[in-house]
Amino acid sequence: MTVSYQIEPGGALRGRIRVPGDKSISHRSVMLASIAQGVSRITGFLEGEDAIATMNVFRALGVRIDGPENGRVLVHGAGLRGLRAPGRVLDCGNSGTAMRLLAGLLAAQGFDSELTGDETLRRRPMKRVADPLTAMGARIETSDGGLPPLRIRAAGQLRAIRYAMPVASAQVKSALLLAGLYAAGETCVAESAPTRDHTERMLRAFGYPVESKGGTVCLQGGGTLTATDIEVPADISSAAFFMVGATIAAGSEVTLEHVGLNPTRAGVIEILRLMGADLQVLNERVAGGEPVADIRVRSARLRGVEIPARLVPLAIDEFPVLFVAAAYADGETVVTGAQELRVKESDRIEVMADGLSRLGIAASPTLDGMRIRGGPCRGGEIQSHADHRVAMAFSMAALRASGPITVRDCANVATSFPGFVDLARSAGLRIRHG
Ligand code: S3P
Repeated sequence: MTVSYQIEPGGALRGRIRVPGDKSISHRSVMLASIAQGVSRITGFLEGEDAIATMNVFRALGVRIDGPENGRVLVHGAGLRGLRAPGRVLDCGNSGTAMRLLAGLLAAQGFDSELTGDETLRRRPMKRVADPLTAMGARIETSDGGLPPLRIRAAGQLRAIRYAMPVASAQVKSALLLAGLYAAGETCVAESAPTRDHTERMLRAFGYPVESKGGTVCLQGGGTLTATDIEVPADISSAAFFMVGATIAAGSEVTLEHVGLNPTRAGVIEILRLMGADLQVLNERVAGGEPVADIRVRSARLRGVEIPARLVPLAIDEFPVLFVAAAYADGETVVTGAQELRVKESDRIEVMADGLSRLGIAASPTLDGMRIRGGPCRGGEIQSHADHRVAMAFSMAALRASGPITVRDCANVATSFPGFVDLARSAGLRIRHG
């Protein structure tokens, strides 16, 4: 299905907005609840295609799951040893998180399985999980070049591993921790830079001991997860579009409600503040083991900055919209150390540089980032390359462009942000399906 957005220039964003539930946490809530003992209640679940794909995989693995209904899901946990052979190929849709985390979990089961996905996902690298899982004793076949589908054979008892990740990836870390639940001994994963720690936090919420120290996470295999209730906060990655939109559009003021502010995800706030954004964090609290807060954003003039490398993994999914912020900043913004952007739902360095150039912005891609000189932005037609975050980032760019922007290939916005067009329009973006 082809979906395009048509966005008229100008306008401002105003009001109180609650964006949908966190995608990373929603995936993990279904995964861990499925292998826990007892019934877990999830609220605030993201009813987007990615998280639904994960839910359907667990149904195929024999887990009873009721919902989602208004973000509420009931998972009747099957226990660590209760998953059943699926009897069909498991479809992860567009979701790298689903495929990589499931690879870890399925590698430890006593039955064969096969994981596939859509055209985009079938171009994404899987050796990063297949290699260390193989070192644990798993039997995983990828297609040529380490790409999906993944064929996973029934394993005997896995061996624990100590693994230093060559790329800072929460998906790889989580896959190994999930496999480690079934392994003999202590599995430890060391990361070169901090990555999102939702898996560790949620395992603890399910009563499973996990030790995190000096950039290494360890757990012992053979324990038990006990059902619990999980409250999923609003996704900071979805909130980021409104943070940037309200910053660049004069006369804006929005309050983003109940946003997950896990420090391993909050890099976007620090980066936007460095650029001069007016972001206030209000009403900080803890919900479901994760820090949450409301974020008030008022329009502000931005300046170009060199983005500190340490913030890159903490804002990795927000770069499409941060590049849009840079396009409207005074001076030059330089991003380095972000080569991972090349293997996301699209090559976000090339695709964003190409789109910004079409709008008249001087954007030069580099191997591991981009240089962007802020300036006047015209309208134009943008190819999102089926990347949800690219589509939403360019939609926000229209708030200060001199002409209308058309964004092509937007169907995948439904993977992470169902209802984006209606919510953005109600806040003041002049967007419609076109
Ligand atoms: C995710 C980890 C990140 C992120 C992705 C979600 C997760 O990927 O980009 O959108 O939920 O663990 P990497 O692990 O590849 O960095």
